[in-house]
Amino acid sequence: MSFMTSRAMRPSPTLAPDLQLGEPMTDTMHAEFVTLLDTLAHASDETWVGAFDAWVAHTKQHFAQEETWLEEMNFAPRHCHASQHRHVLSVAAEVRRQVADEGRFDTGRQLVGELREWFAWHVKSMDAFMVVALREHGIAKADNADQVV
Ligand SMILES: [Fe+2]
Ligand SMILES: [Fe+2]
Repeated sequence: MSFMTSRAMRPSPTLAPDLQLGEPMTDTMHAEFVTLLDTLAHASDETWVGAFDAWVAHTKQHFAQEETWLEEMNFAPRHCHASQHRHVLSVAAEVRRQVADEGRFDTGRQLVGELREWFAWHVKSMDAFMVVALREHGIAKADNADQVV
């Protein structure tokens, strides 16, 4: 449809241009990741764990979608990519425990800053390689906003 042909007409409001990979489903998941992380960054002590759990729930789905694609493509570096996902979720689980059980909000808030740095690096390396492969396999197309996979 003509209204869907220009990706520039529907930019992500929360995803910095240098983090946009041009694959609509990936960019949408990444925009949500940033939005939920922003919510977490502004959460009070009372709302922090709930905001963290919302970020974790989304991130598990986001990572699972990427890992499904990587398996479908039998993508060679898929184990390295997936291990980075697992490492982040493992650290997140431990930090959540420290916050919830020990009130270590300082550790929780430090993690948010580190997640921003990790995310930028991961998107520009692992996820960027993945998107190139998705296009090569015809799984995702740059100008198909609503029908990926
Ligand atoms: Fe990603
Ligand atoms: Fe990833």
